[in-house]
Amino acid sequence: MRRPLVAGNWKMNGNSESIRVLLAGLENTLAEICQSVDVAVCPPHVYLDQVGRSLQDSEMILGAQDVSRHVEDGAYTGECSANMLKDIGCSMVIVGHSERRHGLGETNDWVAEKVVAARKAGLTPILCVGELLEERETGRMQSVIEGQLQAVIDLGMENFEGTVIAYEPVWAIGTGKTASPEQAQEVHAMIRAYLAGFSQGIAQDIRILYGGSVKPDNAGTLFAMQDIDGGLIGGASLSADDFTAICQAACQDG
Ligand code: PGA
Repeated sequence: MRRPLVAGNWKMNGNSESIRVLLAGLENTLAEICQSVDVAVCPPHVYLDQVGRSLQDSEMILGAQDVSRHVEDGAYTGECSANMLKDIGCSMVIVGHSERRHGLGETNDWVAEKVVAARKAGLTPILCVGELLEERETGRMQSVIEGQLQAVIDLGMENFEGTVIAYEPVWAIGTGKTASPEQAQEVHAMIRAYLAGFSQGIAQDIRILYGGSVKPDNAGTLFAMQDIDGGLIGGASLSADDFTAICQAACQDG
């Protein structure tokens, strides 16, 4: 039985005051849900400390949105290491989000190195995979996603132990277009089958989240699918009411 996980990816949004208000809204409502669902929030780096302090008495998990692929301290201006994130209280980190793969040119190999760096520091990576619309329409979806997974496998299949995968079709992110529950389920099952070719145990245990325009009104049907173990939520995670409703949907599914 895989425990559902709902993670809020706040992206580059907010300020200290809006974050204070959002957290106050979440803390009131999420305490009970957290007993059956893992709930994580991933603020921008500069607010991790503020959010971590305010989550001290909460079951909510603190996550970051990115991490350096470099493990050791050094001359990497602007970067933040996995050890630093761990030091400040993070336990999860998103890696390979499509806005970094496609917007900032992160390669499959770099993303795989980030997975390794995160695990080395004791962080749970949330590895994002997903295809562009053009890749789906030209029949390349499966090979693109398998390539994203294979880069991590090449560094050792054990890197998927405890790791979380988020399937996010790029055409569904922030666009209001969601993959249908059946479309998402098909890809989630494909990901699990690919991993099973290397380790049955890991494939069975790994949590695969769906991300891309998840809202309170579609979360329930998505989370009800057999291989969908929760969600990575962008826009809707900035509203305490919407995020709570989505976590609730994961709760009912479990
Ligand atoms: P969205 O973003 O929910 O706003 O589509 C999801 C994500 O990018 O993780």
